[in-house]
Amino acid sequence: MVRILFVCVFVFVGVLCVAQQRVFIIPKPSQVEEQQGVFGYNSNTIVYFDKDFKAVASLVADLMKLPAVNLRARNKAVVAGTGAIVLQSSARKMDEEAYSLSIDANRVVVMASGAMGAINAIQSLSQLVFTSERPGTIPCAVINDKPRFAYRGFMLDVSRHFYPQSFVNKLIDLLSLYKINRLHLHLTDAAGWRLEIKKYPKLTANASWRTDRTWKEWWKSGMDYSSEGAPMAYGGYYTQADARAMVAYAARKGITIIPEIEMPGHSEEVIAAYPELKCINSTDRQGEFCIGTDSTFTFMQDVITEVMSIFPSSYIHIGGDEASTQHWKKCSRCQQRMKDNKLKDEKELQSYAIRRMEKFIAAKGRKLLGWDEILEGGLAPGATVMSWRGEKGGIEAASMDHDVIMTPGSFCYFDAYQQDPVTQPEAIGGFLPLKKVYSYEPIPAGLEATKHKYIKGAQANLWTEYIPTVEHAEYMIFPRIIALSEAVWSDAHDRNWEDFQSRLFHHYLLLQQLQVNYCRPSDQLEIKPAIDVNRKSATITISSEQYQPQIAYKTDGTLPAEGSPLYKGPFPVTGSSVVRAAVIRDGKLHRAPDSVDIDFHLALGKKVIYNQPYSESYPAQKESTLVNGYRGTLTYQDGQWQGLTNDLDVTIDLEKSQEIGEIKSTFMQVTGPGVYIPDYVEVFSSTDGKEFKSTGKVMNDIPTTDVSLRFKTFVIDQKGREARYIRLYAKLHDGFMFVDEVRVGRMKNVK
Ligand code: ACM
Repeated sequence: MVRILFVCVFVFVGVLCVAQQRVFIIPKPSQVEEQQGVFGYNSNTIVYFDKDFKAVASLVADLMKLPAVNLRARNKAVVAGTGAIVLQSSARKMDEEAYSLSIDANRVVVMASGAMGAINAIQSLSQLVFTSERPGTIPCAVINDKPRFAYRGFMLDVSRHFYPQSFVNKLIDLLSLYKINRLHLHLTDAAGWRLEIKKYPKLTANASWRTDRTWKEWWKSGMDYSSEGAPMAYGGYYTQADARAMVAYAARKGITIIPEIEMPGHSEEVIAAYPELKCINSTDRQGEFCIGTDSTFTFMQDVITEVMSIFPSSYIHIGGDEASTQHWKKCSRCQQRMKDNKLKDEKELQSYAIRRMEKFIAAKGRKLLGWDEILEGGLAPGATVMSWRGEKGGIEAASMDHDVIMTPGSFCYFDAYQQDPVTQPEAIGGFLPLKKVYSYEPIPAGLEATKHKYIKGAQANLWTEYIPTVEHAEYMIFPRIIALSEAVWSDAHDRNWEDFQSRLFHHYLLLQQLQVNYCRPSDQLEIKPAIDVNRKSATITISSEQYQPQIAYKTDGTLPAEGSPLYKGPFPVTGSSVVRAAVIRDGKLHRAPDSVDIDFHLALGKKVIYNQPYSESYPAQKESTLVNGYRGTLTYQDGQWQGLTNDLDVTIDLEKSQEIGEIKSTFMQVTGPGVYIPDYVEVFSSTDGKEFKSTGKVMNDIPTTDVSLRFKTFVIDQKGREARYIRLYAKLHDGFMFVDEVRVGRMKNVK
């Protein structure tokens, strides 16, 4: 096993001693002082607890498999003997979730002001137990710790696919281990209602069941509902007793469950069971409640009343996202409601509904939480906003002194691919590798410092359209949630990707012990050039999700092999190069090499005129994107892929007439979000910038129906042709087109 080494110097004897790091806690604690020796425990170990920590003591008993008789209320007059674990109420006031954990050879002492802090201490202790090399021992250390953010969340969508209570409990155990303290359950959506509501039995008799097992089959086959007990019914729900049991199970582990009941949109299943809640004269499938009828509010308030009796959480999530206004526009009751309340448009009608619910929830002493669409048409007074469509909603709400939970899609949506899509089970789209999750900073850069206090924390979301099994859910959650746990717990200056990797390495064995189907770190290498256009050189950095793998590389386009240079750190290349690198394991290339072209082509750094604009939403590096030497990666959000919603039509001025050899341009296709390879690419060239003639056209041969992530490089041969001006034209197929670089000239020095 590879180990991080750290050095300690015993000055008094002048001996250099090298001690192994043995504390690998994630999220990284505020302070850790590792010490020599271990604390040993066995079935005779006694846990002494102060009265507030009785339930916490039972967590220690579970962890160390101690019999109940070993748990004893602490008598302050008696000093605990050796081999004891002491859970002590701190004499000095500590933050609610802060703790100290002091481990020496004789004793473990946990100090906290309340149960939340003590639970956090026990989870650090648990990680020491699971990552210890010697069973029955944990390393001596002194730890002082507290979280950066109070809200550290994870959302599970149990509507698109239903997961049993046993899985939710397993998830609670794991989330708690990483000090995630909120579990948001997305309990209702078109694909199934998942909570027993006594007053509305058809919600579970009918709307919890559908005709197809997977969401995808169901979606494609017309989204029909079924009923409880029907032989083909797929679905399920939590009874109120189940839900109460989950709430209690989570509370024991320091987690609050936040229920989400969607309104006014994403409610097709409710309307299928109770069609009287749809708009007047609406004949087609409707996903939004009619806001004009008071029956909607009676229904919502009845449901929320039962929900509040089950879930003690101060937050009640009412959804609020992605509601269409089309039915409200045509409904006489909705229009009357708008008139009566002087609402200028349907956005204000939605806001009216949310405000009415906020008033109801606040009157019961709870707080309304909703997706960032609740900002539209005016934010309800006490509402907290979950910012999912980027950071904008969060900035807007915090600027108005509203509390915010950050969950921007590009960092927090765990339904996105986490490794190269060709190696992964089908996902909804997007690309969110572990390192990107780790890099997430919850305070938006654009938020004024005085408003930072409104950012209460962040949350990862697992939407489950493409995740039919619990094993698959675990695969999408782990290890990404472990990366997020550090982003929401540890101070920004304490976060370091390499240090995280070194600790995470030890957690893979922990996850195996707990039988978690985690996504193994990728063997794929990220090869990043830092390009110096003037010097025609680049510095290459290679990184991996693997912890300190052996990497062999070549820079001339040939395959790395035995005897090829091993990567030791960033290295320079001069002139055009193709860097190919691969992980070496047991002396062999572990997989086909990854490669990056560093192409000092003729258009590099030259002027690009846009005859048609690029999309303001995806400008990448603006006018320099196509000629900066940087290639795009697997995601169009990497700052090197430029997006267009019209044809690509650019003219590049090479500054002098010269042989142009060939012209290459690469495009991406990912049909989920509507990104297509163009129908064709055509080149026009000119020596004077006035008269252009077509000098080559290549058609797309990748089917636009292919749903996998595809790339196509259009190569247009210009052999023997001289030109100063090149006009590149790519015909938009539909939606978006993404392009990274237009390379002019043949690459030299490359085999
Ligand atoms: C959402 O992803 N619709 C909140």
